[in-house]
Amino acid sequence: MKTQNATKGLFRTKSIEDTISDTSSGEHSLRRELSALDLTVYGVGVTIGTGIFVLTGTAAKDYAGPAVALSFAVAAVVCGLAALCYAEFASTVPVAGSAYTFSYASLGEFPAWLIGWDLILELALGAAVVAVGWSGYIQTFLADIGIHVPTSIGGGTDSHWGLNLPAAVLVLAMTALLVIGVKQSARFTTLIVSVKVAVVLLVIFAGLFFIKGSNYKPFIPPTSKGTSTSSGGAQPLIQHLGFAPGSFGVMGIFTAAAVVFFAFIGFDVVATAAEEVKKPQRDLPRGILASLAVCTVLYVSVTLVVTGMQKYTVLSEKAPLADAFNATGAHWLSGFISAGAVAGLTSVTLLLLMGQSRVFFAMSRDGLLPRAFSRVHPRFQTPYRSTILLGLVVACFAAVIPLKALAELVNIGTLAAFMLVSLGVIILRRTRPDLPRAFRTPGVPYVPIAAILACLWLMLNLPVDTWIRFGVWMVIGLVVYFGYSRKQVGRGEPSSE
Ligand code: ALA
Repeated sequence: MKTQNATKGLFRTKSIEDTISDTSSGEHSLRRELSALDLTVYGVGVTIGTGIFVLTGTAAKDYAGPAVALSFAVAAVVCGLAALCYAEFASTVPVAGSAYTFSYASLGEFPAWLIGWDLILELALGAAVVAVGWSGYIQTFLADIGIHVPTSIGGGTDSHWGLNLPAAVLVLAMTALLVIGVKQSARFTTLIVSVKVAVVLLVIFAGLFFIKGSNYKPFIPPTSKGTSTSSGGAQPLIQHLGFAPGSFGVMGIFTAAAVVFFAFIGFDVVATAAEEVKKPQRDLPRGILASLAVCTVLYVSVTLVVTGMQKYTVLSEKAPLADAFNATGAHWLSGFISAGAVAGLTSVTLLLLMGQSRVFFAMSRDGLLPRAFSRVHPRFQTPYRSTILLGLVVACFAAVIPLKALAELVNIGTLAAFMLVSLGVIILRRTRPDLPRAFRTPGVPYVPIAAILACLWLMLNLPVDTWIRFGVWMVIGLVVYFGYSRKQVGRGEPSSE
């Protein structure tokens, strides 16, 4: 029997005790088998991907120059503040669903719906973005060994849409792995993450030998008004509020930070595996903070090396890390890096899909989405229905939609979710000060307030078009919530099928 306490209606909350006890009921529960180290591997596995391998080039070339290293640092600070809030929530409400579950326990049903809807945007479209990035790298790699994927199925560009079959096939293959079970998936992840980190370290240490000091001058290029991205709906919203243009100069660092923020998405996905962690109270905060720290050090190092190897104006936008080595004549190193990128992007696609299916699973278990999706497979014990449904949807997105605009949409949805999580920490400290918290966010309410403002700042640096698309997504969410979910919650368990 569920209790929906506090106020009735939009802001009724699901008690923490119910939230935790729901996870131990028979066919609606997942296996607990992950450790802090598994989580860190999981976090690094899901985090290093298209952001560093692909978006670095665009961000440096169009917005920040060599100062893109500072953009990564800015994005890391924003994520660090949010991570401190995430870690407290995750260690207090250690069940599947991430920020969705946490907000249901603190802010209420409606904010929980909004945040769950944001997370589906983050994880589903994020997986599609990474699959498209993977497709580009695998095609380059195959071309190097003489196999050419026909252009009719190789995907389009930002301006010309086209069918991207390799991306869709990747998503379907990863979906099949997830249905088989987390054990196999975690082993697969560990192997592939090792390859990815080795390749990133290779870029850093081999690249050191090719750095030219002159490429760093100017480190922060002067403000520019004339790039293709600086007009109309492609302008950062902040520019419409009277701030300087967002290409180069100090403001360009923030515009680039709002783009490369995508590179950090994933540390929060660790929280979605809470229900599968052996000692969530202790290991979850450790896993989240450790994976964020590892990624930050690697990203800043890689960007400093790559912008030192090649002038930012000539960086490649499709494969900047590999092409920086090509430009210096070290083609064999470039081949290794492409192969590592393929392996790395495979793991990110897998893990984003896994996080997404877990959020969907949690929302369905609460009745906010059809409850049939929260049945776990009798043999594999995985939420197979939500995994398969969302895998098919993501495969369709990956097959037809271009990359950059999608990445910005993912960023705005994620930043909105981070803001709600940070607000939730402040509220839960007041409404449930009694709850045991294995990890306590320092400096409450100042750190959560700083996290909220920092996320808002990055959101304002995203294009007007992105804000409009995000608005449309949220309106669809409101229609689903008021048309379906609100009526379903509290009707009890589903009848057996
Ligand atoms: N952070 C992940 C990436 O960059 C999503 O691909």
